[in-house]
Formats: sequence, structure tokens, C-alpha cells
Amino acid sequence: MRILSGMRPTGRLHIGHLSVLENWVRLQQGNDCFYFISDWHALTTGYDDTAELKHNIREMLLDWLGAGLDPEVSTIFVQSQVKEHAELHLLFSMFTPLSWLERVPTYKDQLQQLGQEGKDISTYGFLGYPLLMAADILVYLADAVPVGEDQLPHLEFCREVARRFNYLYQTQLFPEPQALLSQIAMIPGIDGRKMSKSYHNDIAMSATPEEIWQRVRMMVTDPARIHKNDPGHPEVCLVHTYHEIFSKEELEEIRSSCREGSIGCVACKKRLAAKINSVLEPVRERRASWAAKPRLVEEIIVEGADRARRLASCTMQRVREAMGV
Ligand code: TRP
Ligand code: SF4
Repeated sequence: MRILSGMRPTGRLHIGHLSVLENWVRLQQGNDCFYFISDWHALTTGYDDTAELKHNIREMLLDWLGAGLDPEVSTIFVQSQVKEHAELHLLFSMFTPLSWLERVPTYKDQLQQLGQEGKDISTYGFLGYPLLMAADILVYLADAVPVGEDQLPHLEFCREVARRFNYLYQTQLFPEPQALLSQIAMIPGIDGRKMSKSYHNDIAMSATPEEIWQRVRMMVTDPARIHKNDPGHPEVCLVHTYHEIFSKEELEEIRSSCREGSIGCVACKKRLAAKINSVLEPVRERRASWAAKPRLVEEIIVEGADRARRLASCTMQRVREAMGV
């Protein structure tokens, strides 16, 4: 299967992204995978603040490599280096009804939400977000797209565009790409809200043991546990929620020790920090070894774009032919 997925360059990723990347890594086996950083999509909301864009691309790329994406196996690239995405987006724009774009559920939601934050995204580019995404996917004739649930409307929209193209130009060129939804554990932020860098409640994928401990230390525990031996209620404690994800084998023991009051919250947090560190350590080490070889990382991205372009330009030839341009 040809698999494709992308992420906007948000800079350093957090541990919530790790399971997404682990899924991408698994998919590398036996599939033809294309993974790219969608920097043009970042511009749809961040057009006025691009100072960090290049830096963010680099940081995210290192996190990808740290998580185990293998440039020998997968095609890893940056969207803006493959101009065919833009040409396909333009051609699609000619026959995509505005009403289709306006009714994508994320459109009005985000317009309102970001509008409240004082951001003006009543732009052409933002409205076209899903269309650019459709071009990203279809230019590689991808069969399947691993995405989160939030992206499902975009994928449905992509299939509609593919169908419309095939119908208008009487061709079978575009497949209808399927979403690959995977059960990915949602990790809350250290304050219990959704984990997000903008809430400052995240644990970075590249966090050092000390940074991990500083984050875990701040987690709110059961307020009933004032003294070390007070019986606790793990079900109301965020540290316990994390243990459910990171300490599956020891969960029963942790729960009963908490209920009995035989483990203190600090010790419980130390255990959690150690668990998180054991997951992040190999990622951090791989990341560091790539970070030490910036020339090689540069080569990966040039080579990835070349590989992507070969396929994309072949599709574009067929698109032009079908459309008569
Ligand atoms: N919109 C996706 C996101 O925010 C990123 C993305 C852009 C993407 N183009 C894509 C994902 C193509 C999958 C396929 O997460
Ligand atoms: Fe939470 Fe652990 Fe303290 Fe129990 S012992 S309240 S699970 S931190």
C-alpha cells in the first residue's frame, strides 16, 4: 500500500505525538511510505509569524528521526520543496465549489476560535486548507492516510475532490484514499487538560531526565493525601492516569499501595518519571545522534524531496493530460 501522512511544523513534539509516530514507524514495514512536513499548511494560520518556521521544521524532523522513521525506507520530505503540490492545488481550485470548502466542519470552528484569539484567518489560503491537503495526498495517488479523528472530514473532502476530477475528465486517475485510524492513547497534559505546547502543559519527546522529573513533579495528585500515609484515591489522580499508560505491568501494585497509603506521592511520581524516561531514552539518543550530523539530515531532506518529486511530477503529467492543459 502507498501510505502518506503529514504534520504541520510545530517545532519540538511532545510525548502525545510519540504514539502517532510509532504508528508511522510500524507502517514502514511492507508499505511504500511518504511522510512530509506541511510547512505551507502552517502558513494558513501562521502567515504573519514565520521567523521560527525553518527552525521548527528542523526540530520536528529530528523528532521524527528520533522516533525511528527510517529515511532508507520511507520518503521523508518538506512540502514546500515539492512544487507539484501547489500546481495540483491550483488546478483543483478551478473546479472545487466554494460551498464544499465552507461546509468542512473544521473551517467555521477554527475561524471562530482563532478569531476570538484575535487572529484574522478569513483568508483564501485558510479556506483552501483542505484542498491543499487533498493535493498533498492525491499527487502521490496514496491509498491510505494515517490520521487522527480530527482529520476525517478532510479526508472525506479529499475523496470528493478525487471523484469530481475523475468524473469531470472521465478518468480513473485518482484513487479514493482511506483513513487509517489507529487506537492511540490520549495522554493528558500535566495539568489534566489536552496536552499542547501552547498550554505549557506538555512533556517534550526530547525531554531530559531532569526535565521529565520537573514536569511530573508539577502534576496534581489526590488532594486527600496530605500526609504520606493517608489512603489515596488513584482514580482522581493524574499521576495514576499516566501510570495507566506507562506502567501497565505495575498498575495493580501502584493502585493498592496508593489506597493503603504505603507509597508516598513523591515516590510514586519518581517511578512514573523513570518509566517515561525509559520510553524516551532511546528516542532521545537516536535524536541526538542525528542532530550531531546536520549535513546528513540535510541530505535526507533533499533526497526525500527528489524521490517525492519523481512520483509527483509523473502524476502531474497525467493530470495535465486528463485536463487538456
Ligand atoms: N492537516 C494535517 C494536520 O494538521 C496535516 C496534513 C497536511 C496532512 N497535509 C496532509 C495529513 C496530508 C495527512 C495527509 O494534522
Ligand atoms: Fe497519585 Fe500516586 Fe499519590 Fe496515589 S500515590 S495519589 S496514584 S501520586
